[in-house]
Amino acid sequence: MSRTPFIAGNWKMNTNIEEAVALIKTMQPQLNKIQGVEKVLCPPFISLNAARGVTRGSTVKLGAQNMFYEEKGAYTGEISPLMLKDLCDYVIIGHSERRQYFGETDDIINKKLKAAVTHNLKPVLCVGETSEENEAGQTKEVIGGQLIKCADKLYFMSGMVIAYEPLWAIGTGKNASGNEANRTINFIRQFISRMHGSGIANTVRILYGGSVTAANISEFMREPDIDGALVGGASLKADDFVSIVRQASEIKGL
Ligand code: PGA
Repeated sequence: MSRTPFIAGNWKMNTNIEEAVALIKTMQPQLNKIQGVEKVLCPPFISLNAARGVTRGSTVKLGAQNMFYEEKGAYTGEISPLMLKDLCDYVIIGHSERRQYFGETDDIINKKLKAAVTHNLKPVLCVGETSEENEAGQTKEVIGGQLIKCADKLYFMSGMVIAYEPLWAIGTGKNASGNEANRTINFIRQFISRMHGSGIANTVRILYGGSVTAANISEFMREPDIDGALVGGASLKADDFVSIVRQASEIKGL
């Protein structure tokens, strides 16, 4: 079963508009030369419009880092799917920093997924366990619970991507091993197969995220079930991100 590898850069709350445009302009000529991998950049909301101008006609796609589920109204400070749908292809939903610092629950995440799909935005749904849950041997139970609440068949049909991001690996420099990540991602694939059948499970792309760097990406891409990466810190360094995409293409590019 061939799945196009997927590498996304999550810039989080970094870069102003000028810096975002400069970073894209530095990476883009090299990213354009790399084939067989879907490349997605997720700058902050305020830079999406400028980023759209810079990436037009290139193979680089854009994603948002979050989104509210209502279309419009009195929700001070929020960004709706209607505002995003002409700016980007993807939207990250349920990132653990949203769950941890902004109180997002599986219910909220489910509403966001539904809203994204309704407006033709492809979700990148993040799931993952804490270090305590990992140490207590609860990884499968936690992720299974997140998937049951947040992964309707409809979302998969829309081209949803899943990112397995163990919380203890995000921004810590302490990545999971390729083998460990593949084991959990294989579990996610089997779980989706039981929920929605092997056709969907074999086509959904499942990424690893958490302290991915140019030095360790090959370890993940060599694993059979890992289709790419959601990259935080290393996606802010042009050379590192280009190297990550290049290695993904060399190992698994279609
Ligand atoms: P990191 O972040 O690569 O900096 O660990 C990954 C993420 O949060 O998506």
